Amino acid sequence: MAREIQTIGVMTSGGDAPGMNAAIRAVARACAYYNVKCVGFYRGFQGMIEGDHCVMSARSVRNIIGRGGTILKSARSEDFRTPEGRKKAAKCLKEIGVDAMVLIGGDGTFRGGEIFSKEYDIPVIGVPGTIDNDIAGTNYTIGYDTALNTVIESIDKIRDTASSHDRLFFIEVMGRDAGFIALNSGVGAGAEEILIPEEDLGLDRLLESLKRSKRSGKSSSIVVVSEGDKIGKNVYQLADYVTENLPDYDVRVTVLGHMQRGGSPSCFDRTLASRLCVKAVELLLDGEKNVMVGLLDNKIKTTSFEKGLQETHEINKELLRISDILST
Ligand code: F6P
Repeated sequence: MAREIQTIGVMTSGGDAPGMNAAIRAVARACAYYNVKCVGFYRGFQGMIEGDHCVMSARSVRNIIGRGGTILKSARSEDFRTPEGRKKAAKCLKEIGVDAMVLIGGDGTFRGGEIFSKEYDIPVIGVPGTIDNDIAGTNYTIGYDTALNTVIESIDKIRDTASSHDRLFFIEVMGRDAGFIALNSGVGAGAEEILIPEEDLGLDRLLESLKRSKRSGKSSSIVVVSEGDKIGKNVYQLADYVTENLPDYDVRVTVLGHMQRGGSPSCFDRTLASRLCVKAVELLLDGEKNVMVGLLDNKIKTTSFEKGLQETHEINKELLRISDILST
């Protein structure tokens, strides 16, 4: 392995995701294994700009693999969007002696990393960490599996009360502009309808589907709505529309919100984080830069930032068909 890199920095950026701590641990431990110094930056790019950092030894990451959130904290830095901010960050890295960075986050993180590494010739590897699963170059992002399980558990609980009161629940889930969480949790929880931004179901079809549910003898229903869905302006307006048009329905709304980002990571997310981050360190030591690591067909593969950011992670619309059949 090339030995020019003696210190690797790591940070977490964007919305936090379960498994980020497992990722930090894997970077620190892989660095220790390869005899490279590891430095953690707090609050993502902002910590790089301010030089807010700590040295991470193998022991400093003990017992964090199962903890939610991120011990390095996370933020979305406005300063880093400016050339002045990035200049300060490059200066800080130089002063601290950081030769390369592992950036754990979503597409905003990768976009920042790509510009930064080009401007200052600092090798950067991106590790996809977001509950949204909206990153091309990987089938799964760190945190997505845990978020899905959290959502499923919540929907199961709402189903209990929906069924006791013969109610229709609209449940809004996160995902920003992508419907991965809604679609997969909707199928997994047996929702009657799933509304995602990638497919415009239309209000008429929704009403038709709800009428059909009633006719088929269903007394309660669950509609999972992705926060990015466009057919209703928001989930409350959607619920009002259904109440006006189908007065027989007793409608309630639950917005799951930030609880979806918390909690102990699933085994899948811990393993994914461990695999991706060991690879990220090894790539840097091999002289690789400006790529993200991802899991494609169960193999760890790299994709250039450029390609990853241009492409869209396509959702599996076949699941909508499965959902239609199974909600009969
Ligand atoms: O990207 C993760 C995510 O949780 C999205 O699903 C959501 O739209 C957004 O972050 C919420 O961001 P914030 O925590 O800043 O409100």
